[in-house]
Amino acid sequence: MRIEIQPLHPVFVGEVSGVDLRRPLDADAVAAIEQGMDRYAVLVFHDQRISDEEQIAFSERFGALERPGAASNITKPEDRRLGPLLADISNLDKNDRLLGRDDRQRMFNLGNQLWHSDSSFRAVPAKYSLLSGRVVPAKGGNTEFADMRAAYDALDDETKAEIEDLVCEHSLIYSRGILGFADDLTEQERRNFEPVRQRLVRTHPVTGRKSLYLSAHAGRIVGWPTPEARALLRDLTEHATQREFVYAHVWRENDLVMWDNRQTMHRARRFRDMAEVRDMRRTTVAGDGPTVEQAAA
Ligand code: OGA
Ligand code: MN
Repeated sequence: MRIEIQPLHPVFVGEVSGVDLRRPLDADAVAAIEQGMDRYAVLVFHDQRISDEEQIAFSERFGALERPGAASNITKPEDRRLGPLLADISNLDKNDRLLGRDDRQRMFNLGNQLWHSDSSFRAVPAKYSLLSGRVVPAKGGNTEFADMRAAYDALDDETKAEIEDLVCEHSLIYSRGILGFADDLTEQERRNFEPVRQRLVRTHPVTGRKSLYLSAHAGRIVGWPTPEARALLRDLTEHATQREFVYAHVWRENDLVMWDNRQTMHRARRFRDMAEVRDMRRTTVAGDGPTVEQAAA
């Protein structure tokens, strides 16, 4: 089978056909997918009924995987539903029951509904994320993606010059603060979520394209008064998520969507999460290094 990629949107996102993710891929197939990622930044694979092990094996072809844990969530090890290499993006507890409305885990995970880039709160942020839709709700629960290269290109020259060398501080404390959940974090959780620094403008190592590295986790700009920083970050986020830069993925069961966190933001949309199951599982390929020099977090 030959891998083919069809565009799904005017500026990014491709739909991949001719590949079965349950089987080991040869080097050509991996290279074709990597090239597709460089070009499209988001790739959609339909009808991939994969196990956790198959998802991990496929993901590892693109690099070492992040381990979700105390640095990225408040779920205690004994409450985890999935294995150590999978981020649980479901509304289920470890016994596969729907989380209650005021369950801390549910409230924390609602942060996925804010525009973000995965693990921008880690000193070495994520490269790719791979999200497998195992059970999807009948209505709602779309995932939206925004092309941060197109958003960067559309800035005026004055703004580009102003932001070129800015460095932001990212933390889960900031994104959860937007939801009004920061006060509910324990002292230990706050220590786990110490801010890290990230460049605001990134350059893709292969294509050389620049992109805006924004995320709900960004809460400060180094050297700037916080309110001024928040106002600019909000303004840039509004600019970057205009409809022309956004693709909305309507999930079908067994879709796998893979995105480049260096070049895109994404967010989950609401659904009837008290009534319907949404079981999504994410593997995350770690980045190559920090975006700015800093002490290891
Ligand atoms: C993620 C994420 C959005 C969604 O998996 O990182 O933000 O729609 N998911 O579940
Ligand atoms: Mn995410």
